[in-house]
Amino acid sequence: MKVLGIESSCDETGIAVYDTESGQIWQRLYSQIEKHREYGGVVPELASRDHVVKAPPMLVDILAEIGTIDDIDAIAYTRGPGLIGALMVGANLARGLAWALDKPLLGVHHMEGHLLAPMLAEEQPEFPFVALLVSGGHTMLVDVSAIGSYRILGETLDDAVGEAFDKTAKLLGLPYPGGPELARLADSVTESRFEFPRPMTNRPGLEFSFSGLKTAVLNVVREHEPVSESLRAEIAHAFQLAVVDTLRIKCRRALAETGYQSLVIAGGVGANRYLRQELDKSTRKQGARLYFPALEYCTDNGAMIAYAGALRLLQGQCDETVNDVLPRWSLESLPLLQIS
Ligand code: KG4
Ligand code: ZN
Repeated sequence: MKVLGIESSCDETGIAVYDTESGQIWQRLYSQIEKHREYGGVVPELASRDHVVKAPPMLVDILAEIGTIDDIDAIAYTRGPGLIGALMVGANLARGLAWALDKPLLGVHHMEGHLLAPMLAEEQPEFPFVALLVSGGHTMLVDVSAIGSYRILGETLDDAVGEAFDKTAKLLGLPYPGGPELARLADSVTESRFEFPRPMTNRPGLEFSFSGLKTAVLNVVREHEPVSESLRAEIAHAFQLAVVDTLRIKCRRALAETGYQSLVIAGGVGANRYLRQELDKSTRKQGARLYFPALEYCTDNGAMIAYAGALRLLQGQCDETVNDVLPRWSLESLPLLQIS
């Protein structure tokens, strides 16, 4: 079965086709970064308008590569969570196609897409596992005992990790989106004279809080203004260290609490090289294994939506009568996938 996946929850237009028999993926990805850069963040109205312009030609292009539109057997799209207007563009495109082609249709949870993306890698994690979902909008540790069986062990009380990276990068005068830029600057030095707090690590529990860390950076920046290039790199280095250390401590706790042997990182911040390296070391020390998606499937993309949709569509799930999108949508409310 060839499943078309459409992702449009934020500032990336992702169109992909996943073949459930061969595992082959065809994909197109367009990032709106340039459109939003001058505003220092995603402008929802601009995002929706750009999805409207970019998605149809990307779809035509990918269909030309796989054959014809008749080769598509089912359609999956991101139903939420995300920006309402942006979600509606992908949802309407998917619904129009499904109606015209008379094919099954399924609305996918964006975070389930991220969470299952590591299954597209050569080495796949086995259930159960702990997932660390770290993106621009979410930071959570999830107990994944099966597809659709998700229990949130802890999440952020304020900023998401990606958001903390982006806001700190902005404070340091780095261009939007700051996460990868900040990581690059942080990796350019090996030491820092600064040390930032590891929020909420000195008490039990698996919750996160990153807004205080951002304030700590702000205070250091103010104290040292004008901040030289080398000082900025040291601040970025200390910030990345504090974030990664915090995530590592909580992941270790989550593995100990659940007794699971596998940790999965997913979501945009999962592309962070230092985070991958440190989590890999610490999970090994604990006798567990770390799994992560290929870099191209870490940040938003259509392949993860096609894949997550395909798993459910194969089991007969579809929702042709749904006509809404869900800007907020609890991961824990998803139906369990009954594999026969
Ligand atoms: O999953 P994603 O593409 O979109 C959302 O669903 O939010 O995640 C985007 C987030 C942004 O905050 C971006 O700055 C961050 O992931 N990010 C990174 C890195 N690459 C992307 N943060 C730290 N280091 C990176 N290498
Ligand atoms: Zn995402």
